Parts: sequence; structure tokens; C-alpha cells
Amino acid sequence: MNEKQRLESNQVNPADKKSEKDYSKYFQTVYMPPSLKDAKKRGKEEVSYHNDFAIDEQFHGMGQGRKFYIRTYGCQMNEHDTEVMAGIFLGLGYEPTDSVEDAHVILLNTCAIRENAENKVFGELGHLKALKRERPELLIGVCGCMSQEESVVNKILQKHQHVDMIFGTHNIHRLPHILNEAYLAKEMVIEVWSKEGDVIENLPRARKGSVKAWVNIMYGCDKFCTYCIVPYTRGKERSRRPEDIIQEVRHLAAQGYKEITLLGQNVNAYGKDFEDITYGLGDLMDEIRKIDVARIRFTTSHPRDFDDRLIEVLAKGGNLVDHIHLPVQSGSSDILKIMARKYSREHYLELVRKIKEAIPTASLTTDIIVGFPNETDEQFEETMSLYREVEFDSAYTFIYSPREGTPAAKMQDNVPMEVKKERLQRLNALVNEISAKKLKEYEGKVVEVLVEGESKNNPEVLAGYTEKSKLVNFKAPKSVIGQLVKVKVTKAKTWTLNGEMVEETAEVK
Ligand code: SAH
Ligand code: SF4
Ligand code: F3S
Repeated sequence: MNEKQRLESNQVNPADKKSEKDYSKYFQTVYMPPSLKDAKKRGKEEVSYHNDFAIDEQFHGMGQGRKFYIRTYGCQMNEHDTEVMAGIFLGLGYEPTDSVEDAHVILLNTCAIRENAENKVFGELGHLKALKRERPELLIGVCGCMSQEESVVNKILQKHQHVDMIFGTHNIHRLPHILNEAYLAKEMVIEVWSKEGDVIENLPRARKGSVKAWVNIMYGCDKFCTYCIVPYTRGKERSRRPEDIIQEVRHLAAQGYKEITLLGQNVNAYGKDFEDITYGLGDLMDEIRKIDVARIRFTTSHPRDFDDRLIEVLAKGGNLVDHIHLPVQSGSSDILKIMARKYSREHYLELVRKIKEAIPTASLTTDIIVGFPNETDEQFEETMSLYREVEFDSAYTFIYSPREGTPAAKMQDNVPMEVKKERLQRLNALVNEISAKKLKEYEGKVVEVLVEGESKNNPEVLAGYTEKSKLVNFKAPKSVIGQLVKVKVTKAKTWTLNGEMVEETAEVK
């Protein structure tokens, strides 16, 4: 399908929309609102791969004398999408700025994962209203996962008329066209494809920093955990071809990047959509470990698809780091079942056992949701006991947040918010206790740190991460920024380590 056909097939005729309120009269330009119902469908059509992204000649110089500002919310996927959009802005001749006051275009790259993530964005949109009043020529855009939600688009239409454009996660490569429409139109430009686009290989990327880089290995998610909005906002699973990924990693290595993180919502499903080859994440990692980059990470793992081949490859060590983020969500098999995670407590513990057996130094971190609908005290205690048993290095913990359109949002819930908050506090106390204990064990030991730059709070001090993602602050000359150095840990703080540099390590690992 070419772009024109795709546009036509996605084009919703405003007159056909049976929305409660008809907004079509506001739009003479692009009006392509999202539909959660369509986003749910998983078609059989093959993914097509393109290498033909180019900025149309008519848009050259669009950004002359103009500056762009992008605020990013949410996960690494969004961080990386922001790098792509920044690359497109630069290609159009815009300059970056880190102040909204200076910007001629402001984009909010949004996250829909929990209600509070969305509230932050609506709060920010409120703040931007005054700026738009002062400078009507300013363009304000909303993109990212929230723009894939019908209810969000409707709310922006009702309450935030100062927004100039809304575009979806599948429409990023259309940014030049969307900006052009927004400059020409008096109305809000909306272009959100509910169904995923193809994989476009040659999008530009203006990467943040020159030490660590993100590399997408797949897009979308087909897991449909019952609480989660991501399969609706990011579309079906599409894996990039191994040769394209390997080429990108090689290129980054040649440019001097020291750490690569392979990205996907469910990286363990990598390759399952290939029809012509049998190739998974283990195979990909086995190739990538041969590339001369000091550290290779991947995120996020799903326990269900974490196979023996991957464990066998990770055990080869080298530049494959021994830190695995393995979200468990709950320690109760009953809750896991209602979450549709498709594994049990026992399966998860068995997987952890296998990983630790093959990689004895492995450290694990996780994500946990407390207060899933009707979670009992006993079920919550199972999460606590699993946490103690695995002894995670740390965890991201969340109170369940109902997301409109997901199956869990329709479930009756008998757990009062106070109980959920109390459970979160208890879990966090346990997370902190074990994290502190693990950090304490580093005192007096020497760790290898990839130096990222000055510490956020003190420019006299440098900061970087260990292989296991521990933040280390230490005094050293600025010349080691971007290098791997050995640091002796002098003190473990609550979340970070303080240390002294022992020696400058050689350029390569
Ligand atoms: N793809 C990753 C997770 C992406 S979202 C995975 O499957 O592990 C990051 C985390 O947000 C999830 O692991 C989950 O813990 C949390 N999360 C997702 N939906 C949520 C919701 N509706 N309420 C609360 N937390 C949620
Ligand atoms: Fe969401 Fe589950 Fe997919 Fe992770 S695997 S993005 S939690 S649906
Ligand atoms: Fe948020 Fe979308 Fe990532 S919902 S967590 S930004 S995939």
C-alpha cells in the first residue's frame, strides 16, 4: 500500500462519524481522529519495510529562523521517538531550544499509561494557553500515546482549542506535512492513524548525547495485558529486520557510542512476526555481542517469551550486561491470570532460577502493579513474598490505574483507594530495604562506570552508571566523560553510590 492509498484508507469521512458531538464543522483540513476499536484489531497484512523517507522539496527551509521545543513524557520508546522528530525538525531547518518562551513550535510527546501521566499533560496544556495568547503564531502540538485515544482528542477539542495539531505514534514521519497544514490552517490539524503504519528504516535521528543510544528492534505490542493501553496506542508487533538493526548498531559503534539499549515493549517477542525466517531475540543478541560496543542492554522483557536460547546467549557475557529488567506485575497466579500475563508465579520463579543459574552475577529489576481490581490482602502478600524471594535490586511500583477501553477498566473493583495506597507504601518500604541492603554491599568494592557527565546537583562531581545501572557520583577530571573508568565505592547512599576513581580504563572494555 502506498502512502496515498494508506491515507485514503485511514481517512475518516467526518460525516460518517457517529460521535456524540460532531466536530467536523471545525475542520476543512486533515481530520483523522483515532478509534480505540480499530486500534484493537490485529490484521494479517504483512508489514512492509521502507527506505524512502525524504523531506519533500516544498518543505525545505520551513524552519528557517524558527525554533522547536519537544517535551517528552513516558518510556524510552517516546524518548527515542523524540529523537526522530528532532531529526526531522533539523532536516526542515529548525533550531532546537530548551525554553518554551523561545520556541516557535512546541510539541508534547505524551504518555497514556496511567491517569496521572495524562493529567500532567493536561496541566501543561493549561500553562501553554497564556503563551499562545501572547504569541498566536506559536504552534502547539500533541503527539505520542495520548493522541491515539479518542477520549483525549475529544477533550482537547473541547477544552484546549489553543492546540494547533494532534498526531499519532504512527504518523511521526508525516511531521513535515502536518506542520505545513498547521501553518496554513486556522483549525486544529488532526492526523492519527488508528492502525499501525509500516516500518520506515531511514528516518533521521538527532540523538541526545554521544555516549548511550537507543535502537528500536520492534514496534507495538500484541500481549493485551488487560490493564494496559499500549497495544492500542502502539499497534501490532512489527519487528525490524535483523540486518537493519545490526547495521544501525555497527554505525553507532563506529561513531563511538559506548552503550546501546535495544528497545521494544515486549522484546522477547522479537522476530515472531517474521514469516520467512526463524529468528528471535537470542539470535539477534548473539550477533550484536560481536560488535565493538562496551555495553548492550535491552528493554522491556516479558517473562512469557523469555526463552532458553536467550539465556544461553546472555550467559556468554562480554558486552551483554548482566542486568535484566523483568516486569512481574504481581506475585499472585490468580491476579496474573486476570491480568492475562500468561504466566504463573511458579513459572516466573522458575525463569528467575534458570537465569541465576546460567548467569550467577545477574541482577534483576521489575515493575509491579498494586491494587488491581479485587486484589485481596492474601494476593498482595504473595507479591511481597515473591519480591523477598527474588530479591530484586529495585522496582518501579504503581497503583493500578483504569484505562478506558481496556478489559480491566470494566471490572468491578472492591478495593478502596486507601487500601491500595497502604499496600503501595508497604511494598515501597520493602523495595527500599532490599535496594539499600544491595547497595551497601558495594562499599569498598571497585565498579566499572560509564561516565555520562557532570552530576545533576553538583558540577564538580561526575556521574555515570555501572553495568547493573547503579548511579555512581565521583570526583575526576572532565576528560573521562564518555569513558569507562574504575571507581572504588566509598559510600552507599539511599539510591546512589559515592566513590573515587581508581584508574582510567582503556578505551575499549
Ligand atoms: N511492556 C512492558 C511495560 C510497559 S508499561 C512490560 O510488559 O513489561 C510500564 C509499566 O507500567 C508496566 O510494566 C506496568 O507495571 C505499568 N502499567 C501499565 N499499565 C498500567 C496501569 N493501567 N496502571 C498502573 N500501572 C500500569
Ligand atoms: Fe502492556 Fe502487557 Fe504489552 Fe507490556 S506486554 S506493553 S504491559 S500489554
Ligand atoms: Fe507511555 Fe506510550 Fe510508553 S503509553 S509508557 S509512552 S508506549
